[in-house]
Amino acid sequence: MMKGVILSGGHGTRLRPLTHTGPKQLIPIANKPVLFYAIEDLRDAGITDIGIILGTNMPNKIKDALGDGSRFGVNITYIMQGEPKGLAHAAKTAQEFVDGDSFVMYLGDNILKSGIEEFVKGFDESNFSSRLLLQSVEDPRQFGVAELDDNGKIINLVEKPKEPKSNLALVGIYLFKNNIFDAIDKIKPSWRGELEITDAIQQLIDDNYDVDSFVVEGWWKDTGKPEDVLDANQLILETISTDIKGELEDDVRIKGRVVVDEGTIIRSGSLIKGPVSIGKNCDIKGYVGPYTSIGDNTKIIESEIDSSIVIGDSYIRSDKRITESLIGQNTKITTDKDAYPKGRSFVIGENSEVKL
Ligand code: G1P
Repeated sequence: MMKGVILSGGHGTRLRPLTHTGPKQLIPIANKPVLFYAIEDLRDAGITDIGIILGTNMPNKIKDALGDGSRFGVNITYIMQGEPKGLAHAAKTAQEFVDGDSFVMYLGDNILKSGIEEFVKGFDESNFSSRLLLQSVEDPRQFGVAELDDNGKIINLVEKPKEPKSNLALVGIYLFKNNIFDAIDKIKPSWRGELEITDAIQQLIDDNYDVDSFVVEGWWKDTGKPEDVLDANQLILETISTDIKGELEDDVRIKGRVVVDEGTIIRSGSLIKGPVSIGKNCDIKGYVGPYTSIGDNTKIIESEIDSSIVIGDSYIRSDKRITESLIGQNTKITTDKDAYPKGRSFVIGENSEVKL
């Protein structure tokens, strides 16, 4: 039986300050942690035996969120990576768990529209040692880049090349057989000091093993940076359907596709213009515009917000519209028109960004 291995380590430095209080894989996209999408993709492809590789940035938060996997219909095993030394190093820590089977390796901060069913099909029975998910991108220099022959077989792979040989980027989802572990044993750390999975796959090719490709058409996002998280939120919100479980007072206008979860109340006079997802036990009065996700227990009073993520437990009363913002848990944003001195006042954490 094919297994799944999801990499959930990394420091998430590019997502600070949000990653000061938790792993990047738990940042919610349309009110669901990004990691949950990976688990659902594996499950929907029939893979229910899943190893989660944990790093050093609050791994217990991932354990608390996923438990034994039964709520997803899967069986989860946790594997400690310890200090992160690259994707190939992380993969190697799963060798015992994989135990001779073929497996999907899925980077836990990636999100993919089409799922992985088609990608996985036929691999186990094939003669290929690996199959790589690829997507054509405008600027491949920030990714691993693949060069293919006419049959779609991979002939060359380079990690973050200065002069890419093609536009085909490696999506962070890979299929492997057991000989990937021998290849990992042979490689040396890259210029960035990491054991690169890209180099390990190139090693397979050098050892005359066949590596297949699968080019995916629907969107794909690596949610490594704040703008990518907001983009992913937009893409996922495009796929939601209206579902109103909370309460709408009289004179509330709902336009487009909107989710309002249990215990939430939308106050009279508000306009919610989808696609929008609002979590549980929120209290909202104002304007919530397209591509916004509001997490549980958030209060928004006489304010306007669009194209943003409010993770949850927050209070917003702002006289200026909030747009394209990523707002961490337990945050308070207020305008007090009557107070002196006039001015902007902040208590903000390290690595924050404020645009006025
Ligand atoms: C990693 C891989 C790279 C791949 C990318 C996809 O890069 O090394 O080959 O294209 O994930 O998200 P990293 O995120 O470690 O820079």
